[in-house]
Amino acid sequence: MALKIGVIIGSNRPTRLGDKVAQWFMNQVKDTPGTTFEIIDLKEVNLPYLDEPKLPSQGDYQHEHTKKWGTLLAQYDGFVLVTPEYNHGYSAPLKNALDTAYAEWARKPVAFVGYGSLGASAAIEQLVNVTAQLHMVPQPATAIKFIDAWALVNEDGSLNEANRRGSDVPKLLENLLWWTQTLKSARG
Ligand SMILES: Cc1cc2nc3c(=O)[nH]c(=O)nc-3n(C[C@H](O)[C@H](O)[C@H](O)COP(=O)(O)O)c2cc1C
Repeated sequence: MALKIGVIIGSNRPTRLGDKVAQWFMNQVKDTPGTTFEIIDLKEVNLPYLDEPKLPSQGDYQHEHTKKWGTLLAQYDGFVLVTPEYNHGYSAPLKNALDTAYAEWARKPVAFVGYGSLGASAAIEQLVNVTAQLHMVPQPATAIKFIDAWALVNEDGSLNEANRRGSDVPKLLENLLWWTQTLKSARG
């Protein structure tokens, strides 16, 4: 069964690290058999703050940008959230992106790659709550956490792997792909 995973960059600051962390993850997973990983860059998607007249849970989107966002998300069987930590929470663009859809997230697994001074643990904890409310299946136990964000990117643009804490890519993938396959089969 071919699986498709969306890797969401949760930061859109002009000098963000999020794109480098996401690229690191993509390099690690690019040869995964039977699974395609694609970056979903919230900076490019550029969603306005939730402006639908009806609740996203009603599924009756009025605006083209929301329909496009929903159609994009619906293509994926699972997600990886690449999340920064801002003031012990995750980013406003990521919250807006989560809130601006509903059914398209449901019954799909979500894994986490966090980065910050202490590894974005607070941001990931919040995301576990929020994604569970969206009927997703969050996987905090295999979260990858990069510490010391200010010393994370080497001069050549690669990541300083010595800053990695928490899980690792093989463990994250083993768990994420099990859930992705299991839930995709169950959704039918
Ligand atoms: C508004 C703001 C608040 C921050 N608060 C935290 C924090 O609470 N914990 C932390 O570990 N790092 C914090 N940082 C440092 C970020 O982890 C670091 O700047 C990181 O590069 C942010 O991700 P980004 O560059 O992809 O936006 C904060 C950064 C910003 C911009």
